Amino acid sequence: MTAHQLKSEIVRKEQLAKDIIRLTLAAPEIAVRAIPGQFMMLKATDKMEPLLRRPFSIHQATSNGLVQILFKVVGAGSKFLADREQGDILDIVGPLGHGFDLPDDPSANLCLVGGGMGCAPLYFLTKRLLTNRLEGSLQLYLGATTAKELAVVKEDFENLGVKVFAATDDGSLGYHGFVTDLVAESLDKELRWQFYSCGPHPMMNKVARFCAAEKWPCQVSLETMMACGISACLGCTVRSSPAKLISSNKQFLHVCKDGPVFDSGDVAWTTAER
Ligand SMILES: Cc1cc2nc3c(=O)[nH]c(=O)nc-3n(C[C@H](O)[C@H](O)[C@H](O)COP(=O)(O)OP(=O)(O)OC[C@H]3O[C@@H](n4cnc5c(N)ncnc54)[C@H](O)[C@@H]3O)c2cc1C
Ligand code: FES
Repeated sequence: MTAHQLKSEIVRKEQLAKDIIRLTLAAPEIAVRAIPGQFMMLKATDKMEPLLRRPFSIHQATSNGLVQILFKVVGAGSKFLADREQGDILDIVGPLGHGFDLPDDPSANLCLVGGGMGCAPLYFLTKRLLTNRLEGSLQLYLGATTAKELAVVKEDFENLGVKVFAATDDGSLGYHGFVTDLVAESLDKELRWQFYSCGPHPMMNKVARFCAAEKWPCQVSLETMMACGISACLGCTVRSSPAKLISSNKQFLHVCKDGPVFDSGDVAWTTAER
């Protein structure tokens, strides 16, 4: 699929928490093609440093040509983006990568598990999954460190009509503990579920193992450091699982091109990939 490089205007900036920002960008060429789980590379400087673009999931793409990113400030690149204002122009490339595969069966039971900023692509995915959905359950589990990090996005999901099962590390909102424990304790295991997950590696590793034990399909969206975003630098690779190695003859997978979304069984879940 063709990616576009655009000069894109920030049409809205929202400060959702102290260090969490949502930018709405005018990018019709990207919005019309974007699939949930795909990402964009944003130039995050007007100087020489930091040199590289930064990857961000597409949080939402609308039919009127807008795309959103939702991000946390963790370093110089995200700080640069957080300091931009409405009307500023950003240099962006997208849509990139392989997104989530939507279920063929409109009555499949779907379970979405997001941790931290992993909620960003799950919003776009939830909107697509709800389109033409006839029956079957959709359960959404979101985990974060504190209520402050979770509250705003939780409300956005609830406005789509989705019940959110929330977990926080400090117990300030919802279940006190890991979101994966909440899933294990509350999901109806009599049903067959199809999982979608995005968040920290240890969380997705747990989700992947849980699904493997139940023999449920599971797609995960991986985050690795990325330099080019277009499969040219080898900076983003993860090791294939033994099964994937046999079926594809690929020892390594490019998160930027083969992913970021993978079947959880395709990835070797070692600590090296965390
Ligand atoms: C496909 C993809 C989609 C992403 N989507 C989002 C999103 O929707 N929202 C969001 O907040 N973040 C997202 N990220 C992570 C985001 O790209 C990084 O936080 C950002 O690049 C950090 O840049 P920086 O210059 O601010 O920080 P840096 O100074 O580069 O790094 C600051 C710290 O963050 C760590 N870090 C940097 N990049 C990554 C990474 N890719 N994975 C794990 N740790 C990293 C560094 O090791 C360092 O400790 C995504 C990453 C990928 C690969
Ligand atoms: S980021 Fe360069 S190969 Fe994936």
